[in-house]
Amino acid sequence: MRMIDLIQKKRDGEILSKEEIGFIVTDYTEGRIPDYQMSAFLMAVYFRGMTEDETIHLTMAMANSGEIVDLSGIDGIKVDKHSTGGVGDKTSLALGPMVAACGVPVAKMSGRGLGHTGGTIDKLESFRGFSTEMSPAQFVKNVNEIKISIIGQSKDLAPADKKIYALRDVTATVDQISLIASSIMSKKLAAGADAIVLDVKVGNGAFMEKEDDAIALAREMVEIGNGAGRNTIAIISDMNQPLGRAVGNALEVREAIETLAGEGDKELRELCLTLGSYMLLLARKADTTEEARVKLENSIRDKSALRKLAQFIEAQGGDSSPVFDTARLPSASIIQEIKSEVSGYVCGIKTSEIGLVSLALGGGRETKESVIDLSVGVVLSKKIGDWTESGETIAVMHGNDPDKVSQAARKLLDAYSFSDLPVEKPSLIKWILT
Ligand code: URA
Repeated sequence: MRMIDLIQKKRDGEILSKEEIGFIVTDYTEGRIPDYQMSAFLMAVYFRGMTEDETIHLTMAMANSGEIVDLSGIDGIKVDKHSTGGVGDKTSLALGPMVAACGVPVAKMSGRGLGHTGGTIDKLESFRGFSTEMSPAQFVKNVNEIKISIIGQSKDLAPADKKIYALRDVTATVDQISLIASSIMSKKLAAGADAIVLDVKVGNGAFMEKEDDAIALAREMVEIGNGAGRNTIAIISDMNQPLGRAVGNALEVREAIETLAGEGDKELRELCLTLGSYMLLLARKADTTEEARVKLENSIRDKSALRKLAQFIEAQGGDSSPVFDTARLPSASIIQEIKSEVSGYVCGIKTSEIGLVSLALGGGRETKESVIDLSVGVVLSKKIGDWTESGETIAVMHGNDPDKVSQAARKLLDAYSFSDLPVEKPSLIKWILT
């Protein structure tokens, strides 16, 4: 097989076979196909797209390019949850303990954040001493004993995707639905779960800004998952404003704890209950989503989910005392209320800008090597549809550097827009694809 022939085939809109796609993935990963040929191929895919079969072949070839995690030592049906990423998305922090408290084994691999969206591991490091470094045997033991453990993502998980993604990033070929779907699903399939619940975000703070694109991406990922023998469901949820109120590592942990304590933001609770219901259903811990929701609500009411979070933090070497006293989380030295300069209904929030505000305060990574400040970020007092008087607080900023706080304050004010007319609140759950 010659790469030039395969580039030409894709350029001319022909369909590639499983063997041809396997050849491209293996030979590129092992360095026999140069970047310039792979770039040309990716651009041909960008314009010509891929069929469902081609996308599945690409996904499987990338998933099989490295380690396939074996979770067979864990009892029960392992259900993974994956979010396509958004601002203030602390769902995993609350959802993991909720479903674990209902008996679903949560065996999760997570990453760190880069840029303005935080990673789950960074957030969890708000608990002093918490670590995700452990042997696979310890990981399996923890999940069997307490139903939840989070381990750092193996370096050898889908290495083909890592190499191809890095090339897509510099060749303007990231935003192609089949390439995104296969990239995400290759890692999910290699991570070994039996079933997968996807939270595909849509809106100005998400990868997919348009609903049609989010539906197409969700559909492809569900097809890939089901095609690979893993029961897969996708929920499409709103990201036209940050999820919940808090953006920033320890602030998000605090909000997740509030949700587990039965307080806190209604939308975050609703998203956890919806995603969790499908996780319980796929794990066969409930026969209907209604029954699952009751179980999850009970885990909040009887505080078993909150206790599960504490147990999980302790099992991974962390100090769990903030679970019962959030004042013990890392906190910033400057807490500043940001006041609206106008009166009106909030009609828009530039979600990515809010993420950048947190990044500018020191809460995100500019490069892989950056050290992040866990205590900083922003808590929104006003969200879309809320009436705001001039001079009223729209957000509270937490920072440690006065210059950064004053620059970020302007950025935050500019991220809000107001209208004289009432504005409908966006619906949180847009679609559910089963
Ligand atoms: N996240 C991924 O892992 N891959 C993509 O292509 C896009 C987002």
